[in-house]
Amino acid sequence: MSTNDHNESFKLENLFSVKNKVALITGGGSGIGLMATQALATNGAKVYIVGRTEEKLEKVAETYGKDISGSIIPITADVSKKDEIKKLVDTISSKEKCLCILINNAGIALNTQQTEASSAEELSKNLFSDPNETFEMWTDTYRTNVPQLYFMTTAFLPLLQAAHKHNDNFSGAVINISSISGIVKTSQHHFAYNASKAAAIHLTTMLANEIGSLNGLRIRVNSIAPGVFPSEMTAGESDEKQKSHIPREKYEDKTTATRPGEDRDMANAILFAATNQYLNGQTVAVDGGYILSAGAGA
Ligand SMILES: NC(=O)c1ccc[n+]([C@@H]2O[C@H](COP(=O)([O-])OP(=O)(O)OC[C@H]3O[C@@H](n4cnc5c(N)ncnc54)[C@H](OP(=O)(O)O)[C@@H]3O)[C@@H](O)[C@H]2O)c1
Repeated sequence: MSTNDHNESFKLENLFSVKNKVALITGGGSGIGLMATQALATNGAKVYIVGRTEEKLEKVAETYGKDISGSIIPITADVSKKDEIKKLVDTISSKEKCLCILINNAGIALNTQQTEASSAEELSKNLFSDPNETFEMWTDTYRTNVPQLYFMTTAFLPLLQAAHKHNDNFSGAVINISSISGIVKTSQHHFAYNASKAAAIHLTTMLANEIGSLNGLRIRVNSIAPGVFPSEMTAGESDEKQKSHIPREKYEDKTTATRPGEDRDMANAILFAATNQYLNGQTVAVDGGYILSAGAGA
């Protein structure tokens, strides 16, 4: 008899169960990473959060790790460095038999530019002569937003594959947090960031193909492309609970939702991508209709 014969398997707690799953979230100390952390940990997952600033991670564990069915465990590391990624794998391997969910969320946006100009000279001055617009700024942005996803995912492959064996056919899930910035045709005043996010989306497709399709591993690789959500990146800061705020009116006419994203919009998408065993190689935009308004590039 198929499990589909029972209404039981259609219950939310079965469809979206992350109970007892082991997860690792980079940049879990603020913004979208914190939303993902709460989504998994409050539903019973053991969540390792990784970032460069110990204080932020400790604050998150302290504020959100109490009285929940899962747990939040901080680990300080810079995931744009290969030796630190290797150390992270050793640490998780020493504590866990497998890693069920890896969320590559850490990301940075550096310089912004004035892209509106009334002549070729002015546009060139804005885009080329800006002293902050350097090859180094472009490669720093790329380093954190693109190769980091590649090295984190490939380093954790054995632990992700082990998730399948230890978790009742649950395939290890990699979720890259890309962005609608990698999809829309506008530069949004930051060419380097948007180019890096487009690369992150294609990297997701290639990893899913090589890992699952060509090598037959039971690991799914997807990406979530958020629209605008409150974070240290978009709001410039976070409060004493590591939460950030964006005025609702600011995005009233930029999205069909007439507002920025809320924590629960992201939490819902994270649970979907983590648990849906039939989702692989996809980028899911969760953007309140931002792409509809801004227009996709390709
Ligand atoms: N918020 C949005 O509207 C939006 C939209 C689309 C996509 N995104 C993407 O969402 C992801 C999360 O960003 P966010 O908006 O939530 O901004 P955020 O609040 O600044 O979060 C980024 C987190 O990544 C961590 N991080 C950065 N570099 C790191 C590194 N090398 N090693 C370890 N941790 C690192 C930061 O902590 P430390 O500085 O302490 O390391 C920070 O907690 C990013 O990839 C971003 O591009 C955001």
